[in-house]
Amino acid sequence: MIEFDSKISNFNKKSFYIENYGCQMNTSDSEIITSILLNNGFFLSKNLYKSNIILFNSCSVRKKAELTLKKRLENLKFLKKKKVLFIIVGCFSKEFKESLIEKNMVDFFVNPDSYKEIPNIFFGTKKKFFRKRESYDDIPILKKIIDKKITSFLNITRGCNNMCTFCIVPFTRGREVSNNPTNIIEKCKILYERGYKEVTLLGQNVDSYKWVNKNYVLYFSDLLDIIAKELPFMRIRFTTSNPHDMSKNVLETIYKHKNICKHIHLPVQSGSNKILKLMNRKYSREDYILLIKKIKDIIPNCSISHDIMTGFCNEEEKDHLDTISLMNKIKYNYGYMFSYSPRPGTYAYKKLYNNVPEYIKKRRLKEIIKLQNSHSLLRMKEYIGKLQEVLIEGLSKKNNNFLYGRNTQNLVIVFPKKHFNIGDTVFVKVKKATSATLIGDII
Ligand code: SAH
Ligand code: F3S
Repeated sequence: MIEFDSKISNFNKKSFYIENYGCQMNTSDSEIITSILLNNGFFLSKNLYKSNIILFNSCSVRKKAELTLKKRLENLKFLKKKKVLFIIVGCFSKEFKESLIEKNMVDFFVNPDSYKEIPNIFFGTKKKFFRKRESYDDIPILKKIIDKKITSFLNITRGCNNMCTFCIVPFTRGREVSNNPTNIIEKCKILYERGYKEVTLLGQNVDSYKWVNKNYVLYFSDLLDIIAKELPFMRIRFTTSNPHDMSKNVLETIYKHKNICKHIHLPVQSGSNKILKLMNRKYSREDYILLIKKIKDIIPNCSISHDIMTGFCNEEEKDHLDTISLMNKIKYNYGYMFSYSPRPGTYAYKKLYNNVPEYIKKRRLKEIIKLQNSHSLLRMKEYIGKLQEVLIEGLSKKNNNFLYGRNTQNLVIVFPKKHFNIGDTVFVKVKKATSATLIGDII
């Protein structure tokens, strides 16, 4: 047991540092946590070594994230010895949490539903794990910390009702809750007033957003439509869309508004019906292909990205080949690819056999990554010679004389800086392409 009461007395300055690992959902959560702490008299430190509280915000969707975090904690052990308080926030399996507490590597764990409890740690609570149901609808938008940042994230739902058999999210983040549309719209307006030019609406499954009121029911397409109209100069993105829940209304709304970006992230996971069934994904390969066709019919210039997982339980070579043939059919713009790792608590962990050997998982993963790279290059090359409207996001990391931004399809474009600034919208003529970047010149 850690004697945190004596530690707390060291916290007169209460300065905190937050490290973020993982996805956009984590970035958004770090902003919520920062907002809560700032409103409770804490100070945000820019220097890890000078702060007396370090928050690690990570996720346990894949085992790799847990391993990365463990390594980081090992490396920072010397700070913990100096009585810096280590708090882990995010979703983790019970086993993982207990092992870290046992080894005295961490002081507190806070689940995604309990961020509001973090200040209570300093007011003498004895609890080590916090869990509650929470939507954070009432947490104010954080004041801009990084001046030049022009893209922002906003949760519109939390949790997930889908129960894919491999996925830990429904256990760590709970059942789905949709946020109040009035608050969402208000927050989008605040973001715009603070200088953000783009907002990404976040949820595990944004298409199932639903707000039920005495007088009306509001669906995701309605919400998108309202935000697009209220903020005509704000770029709107959203993620993630579950193929099962994507409606024609959403597609028509995307098409209707110029400021809703023409990109859909549509995780497929596998191209094999047998595997999709075992995963409890509620669509078939055929449904998915039809949906892609519908997207392209309604929004012809829409880019499509994916998540694919290799080596799920009982995946045979012919299932893997089904995934390959699906990829060849669709030729996605880009994608995120993973090899399956069993997560404690999930149906697959408890009831299915993780029976694909690691070396086969790795080989299959390598094959799909290679294939995706070739498709990405093919898709990127389609833009050569075309004029793209680009929102400038920053200086190119490789060369300070270049800027980078993204087009509506969420593809990165790099071009010479000239006299333009971050936040400007410019037209860039694409001259060259790699599988990850378009290269051009402002016209
Ligand atoms: N809500 C999203 C997925 C969230 S998790 C959806 O509808 O698909 C992000 C991605 O992580 C998933 O799409 C999946 O490809 C991957 N993933 C989830 N659990 C995993 C596991 N146990 N092992 C490997 N990859 C996993
Ligand atoms: Fe996970 Fe499936 Fe929901 S992947 S987040 S249970 S849609």
